[in-house]
Amino acid sequence: MTKIRSSEITPEHIYISRRKFMTGVGALTAGAIISGCSSSDTADAPGIAPAGEKKAAATPTPRPTATAATTTSAETVAEVVEEATHTYNEPAEPFASVEADELGDPLNSYHEMTNYNNFYEFTTDKEGVARVSKDFQTDPWSVEVGGLVNNPRTFSLDELWTLFEQEERVYRLRCVEAWSMVIPWLGFPLSALLKKVDPMSNAKFVRFETLYDPEQMLGQNSDWYEWPYVEGLRLDEAMHDLTILSTGLYGKRHLPQNGAPIRLVVPWKYGFKCIKSIVRIELVDTMPISLWIAAAPREYGFYANVNPDVPHPRWSQSNERRIGEWGRRSTLPFNGYADQVAHLYDGMSLTTNF
Ligand code: MTE
Repeated sequence: MTKIRSSEITPEHIYISRRKFMTGVGALTAGAIISGCSSSDTADAPGIAPAGEKKAAATPTPRPTATAATTTSAETVAEVVEEATHTYNEPAEPFASVEADELGDPLNSYHEMTNYNNFYEFTTDKEGVARVSKDFQTDPWSVEVGGLVNNPRTFSLDELWTLFEQEERVYRLRCVEAWSMVIPWLGFPLSALLKKVDPMSNAKFVRFETLYDPEQMLGQNSDWYEWPYVEGLRLDEAMHDLTILSTGLYGKRHLPQNGAPIRLVVPWKYGFKCIKSIVRIELVDTMPISLWIAAAPREYGFYANVNPDVPHPRWSQSNERRIGEWGRRSTLPFNGYADQVAHLYDGMSLTTNF
């Protein structure tokens, strides 16, 4: 597949090389918004057990007005990122170099992103994940990459930060439960990692696996699901430049609840494809069976492309609730990334291949 350069497919203001990312930082601090989420968003999500309901009112705090090009505090950001890379210190304040996505919608707050989560290995209560996962050990960590590749390799946490240029990517995250957020991810294209291991010509899919550690992840003691969490992508989807491995958000290293230390982000697919706390990546020649397909094959398909025309048995997908907003907004095909990814599915029925 021809690799599309990020700068071609992502507007300049949201594609930020590490250097640029470094220049925007001092200008911003995160606005605090308390999110609201209706019970219809959270009922039996996205699997089987019911999740908690959020009732707090939305109280927007004025968003910062800086743009990526304003106040340059290159020094601050460079140091923050370098320091996070080598000493695992966190910057004092979460930051992003822009305040909205390319559609003009404001970023969700750091508080929302880190306190409203799906991570079934810990709990099915979205607002409890942060608390229950806070002692999860994510360092040392390594990711084993193998299968149908010429150069199998295990990457240490340090290598994941130093071998790959960290970028900020502002993407919408759309959960199949019909809620969404706008998130400034930190990470790097999955294609960069796959190129290092050199996939063989018979590799057709990429299979991802989360850590299996029922002592730390108590949810893995439940028989509801076949652990560990597994997800998969077609190789061309995995190589698409929008697909990233994310190491943090809002300029900070990931906290456990968001999938520390490394998770997948595929913005045109439902959030359950974005597997967290990855320990293994395997190139394979057959379509991987994900945890959700194994649990409910009639409800969850392999592709899981955001599609307002194909309802899930329990949730219409025609509209969604943006966390922090009242009311609902229409869901966009491919979550608003159709111009960049629809061609991957030319000639396929998106109803059959849901
Ligand atoms: N990865 C693992 N290992 N376990 C999970 O339960 N939940 C998925 C996905 N990745 C999940 C996971 C779902 S349903 C969603 S919507 C996103 O993570 C949520 O990511 P967030 O909590 O960072 O918003």
